[in-house]
Amino acid sequence: MLGGAPPNIHHVGDVPSTMEAAREMLAAAKGAPFAVLAESQSKGRGTGGRVWTSPKGNLYFTLCIPEASVRPEITPVLPLVTGLVCREAIKSIVKGADVHVKWPNDIIYDSKKLGGSIVEAEGNYLLIGIGMNVELAPPVTDSGRDTTTVNDIAAAVGQPKVTPVQLAEAVWKQYFEVLSDTTLSRKVIVMNFEAAMDKSLILHRRTPTGRDPEPLRAVRLNEWGHLTVLKSDGTEETLLTEYLF
Ligand code: BTN
Repeated sequence: MLGGAPPNIHHVGDVPSTMEAAREMLAAAKGAPFAVLAESQSKGRGTGGRVWTSPKGNLYFTLCIPEASVRPEITPVLPLVTGLVCREAIKSIVKGADVHVKWPNDIIYDSKKLGGSIVEAEGNYLLIGIGMNVELAPPVTDSGRDTTTVNDIAAAVGQPKVTPVQLAEAVWKQYFEVLSDTTLSRKVIVMNFEAAMDKSLILHRRTPTGRDPEPLRAVRLNEWGHLTVLKSDGTEETLLTEYLF
């Protein structure tokens, strides 16, 4: 039963990237779920090939989930599941943290970026890479969006500091609870993500060289988790796979 899977987290020191460290461990895992938690990364990767600055103090986590454990209905919205899981994990430790998500893969607090995720497939596994600022807020190459940390939130709501290990264990628990809930439909995941989005954010499309100046606002998600945005000329457009600043 996935929901009760005890955390099987490999703790490593400095690695180029937990995505590649996880890949090297796949064969030995023999189809069981596991995760890699690194202290720091020298070649951390973000979405769109961007650098994910990874000093010691933050969370660098890759969950390796056997593909067969993910119902096909859920697979297309796994980035949304990941955002929701990270939000719940933070809220389960920092009570009262008003954390939001930004489509499709960001975790947001007070309009600032807290973290993000990437999903990759390898062999019979899905690799879910999660980076969250716990103690340090490195300037992300995020074209203007400020960054913040889980411990800034903890301080703001008068709660004790959080460690990356605590957060990783909470993410593991939440992730496997979600995956083992066979009643959870894609529709409900999309609804929950939409409810957790910060719709007040001004968004920008990413371009190969930076960001498109046109301001966009998130309006709603469709049943596949695609985002409809409101453009500056008052028309709407549904985005399929784009990343936004
Ligand atoms: C984003 O661009 O918002 C996604 C960032 C994902 C970073 C994490 S840190 C752990 C894992 N290892 C990596 O090299 N990237 C992901």
